[in-house]
Amino acid sequence: MSDKIYDVPSEWAQKAYVDDAHYQSMYAASVNDPNAFWGEHGKRIDWFTPYTKVKNTSFDPGHVSIKWFEDGITNVAYNCVDRHLETRGDQVAIIWEGDSPDESRNITYRELSSEVNKLANVLRNRGVEKGDRVTIYLPMIPEAAFAMLACARLGAVHSIVFGGFSPDSLAGRVADCGSKCIITADEGLRGGRKVPLKANVDAAIAQIEGGVDHVIVVRRTGGKVDMTPGRDVYYDEACAMVTDECPAEHVHAEDPLFILYTSGSTGKPKGVLHTTGGYLVYASMTHQYIFDYHPGDIYWCTADVGWVTGHSYIVYGPLANGATTLMFEGIPNYPSVSRFWDVIDKHQVNIFYTAPTAIRSLMQAGEEPVKRTSRSSLRLLGSVGEPINPEAWEWYYRVVGEERCPIVDTWWQTETGGILITPLPGATKLKPGSATRPFFGVLPEVVDAEGKVLEGACEGNLVIADSWPGQMRTVYGDHERFEQTYFSTYPGKYFTGDGCRRDADGFYWITGRVDDVINVSGHRMGTAEVESALVAHPKVSEAAVVGFPHDIKGQGIYAYVTLMDGQEPTEELRKELVNWVRREIGPIASPDLIQFAPGLPKTRSGKIMRRILRKIAEDQFESLGDTSTLADPGVVEDLIHNRQNKR
Ligand code: WT7
Repeated sequence: MSDKIYDVPSEWAQKAYVDDAHYQSMYAASVNDPNAFWGEHGKRIDWFTPYTKVKNTSFDPGHVSIKWFEDGITNVAYNCVDRHLETRGDQVAIIWEGDSPDESRNITYRELSSEVNKLANVLRNRGVEKGDRVTIYLPMIPEAAFAMLACARLGAVHSIVFGGFSPDSLAGRVADCGSKCIITADEGLRGGRKVPLKANVDAAIAQIEGGVDHVIVVRRTGGKVDMTPGRDVYYDEACAMVTDECPAEHVHAEDPLFILYTSGSTGKPKGVLHTTGGYLVYASMTHQYIFDYHPGDIYWCTADVGWVTGHSYIVYGPLANGATTLMFEGIPNYPSVSRFWDVIDKHQVNIFYTAPTAIRSLMQAGEEPVKRTSRSSLRLLGSVGEPINPEAWEWYYRVVGEERCPIVDTWWQTETGGILITPLPGATKLKPGSATRPFFGVLPEVVDAEGKVLEGACEGNLVIADSWPGQMRTVYGDHERFEQTYFSTYPGKYFTGDGCRRDADGFYWITGRVDDVINVSGHRMGTAEVESALVAHPKVSEAAVVGFPHDIKGQGIYAYVTLMDGQEPTEELRKELVNWVRREIGPIASPDLIQFAPGLPKTRSGKIMRRILRKIAEDQFESLGDTSTLADPGVVEDLIHNRQNKR
């Protein structure tokens, strides 16, 4: 079967920043002489002290070290706010669209400056200094962006915890990085439903030894919350007591900007650490070229700032470029399934970036809710978070974009800081389902299980052979884990954890995770985390969790659970376990299917054979592979016989 190909429309080749010839030459320059290339492009941000060194990186086992622009001094908030004041102080920086269509707000760069400086003063008055960690647990309200930038202004390190995470998950993340300050809201609002953020914060703090010193509470709904005197303060009251002038700290390029926790195949979530200079250069450059962002464009990324996409492509990349970025508090189907398209018309959005899971769920509602809107402002569409199936791609292209808007399918990860593999709209032919080609400076390789680099058209594991400026620098507090996780499987190379195919045109097709990580609605979930939540339940003796194909979510969570002796496998217990996991981790970790299994398939040495469990969950009973090493082959028969099925 030959892949469908969409050529670059000639208007795009003419008016975009780069056409194909330009891409080829820029890409060659970027990988042939990274120092010269990034030395030049590093100037896209303002530096208080310019760098003289550009790239100083090593992927050598035992000595992994990544530094970019290391002797440069800058400030991220200065670059995202102050430097725009003279030329575009009255331009809208952030369009905020509330959960309810009746609520929206425009914030100019001048207003943004004032808000960020006030909050920075509030934090500084509470003792927050350069290098200190601040946890942000907020809904999608402008204060989330103010909080990120206020931290950056002081050189403090923010750690955003997605508002959907439980008090337990929040507590773990606050304790791991030793935050003494949390910025939160009374309640969040999503799809008309309230989320008890402040109550979650209180529950989290109760679990943290030594607690935290300060909690700053934004009034979002005005709901009643407990305020601990001396520790908790309302955001508006604190901001009313300070001026809106606050000098930007001088920050070294390699000083940390943020920590973002992400699930891996083992253990507790890792604190992915990103630093200042290289990250901002990379986020802003990718935002400009990949979305072909031009001054005046209205740009909307539907992610939440609790994920890396929100960091790089709602806040830092767009604001560094002086863009107008839209922040949306709500969900795609509230108050109706036309909401995305209504918002596009209301704010005349030109560039729209969302996730395949959202597209698939809206696709189910048919074309009419899309077609009753205009969307004539749209020029470019983007996709991120998981492989986009060609069917969803075609629908996005034909129905949403009316065959007028190129789709950039952007592959990247929390760890990569910015997009690594993607089309450029004026340069790259599109193949539905393919993330296509590497961005400037990115050296993807496909390797086999032994690490042999494959040539030409091939399939294997995706590694990146050399550093790029947006790369994570370490796992917070655990550099050894950083090396172990990313640089030990294929020594000398960054291992992405993804499988991939490269076709004869050199285009990349990401096939999904090859480790014990599943991708649920574009969010990464470590199976080990869900398993440990399940076994923490008093009635559970053992659990094994795998992914299975899910029409909307991409992958669903399938849990095999062995109960303690004497426990009855009832429907009620099934529900109880689902709720238990929601409470322990958060709703995104809810198992879709739970199968009670008297025994799990194990090797004679007691290792669970996940390969078999995955095949059963995928309904691929015929291709279980070698089962000769099973301690008890009868277990598999039983599992197949009792496979859960919701579809
Ligand atoms: C994993 C990273 C960084 C974006 C949000 C997710 C998968 C992401 C794509 C894409 C195929 C994709 C990969 C990757 N992924 N984008 N365009 N095509 N797969 O960030 O939570 O760090 O997850 O998401 O499997 O490894 P994340």
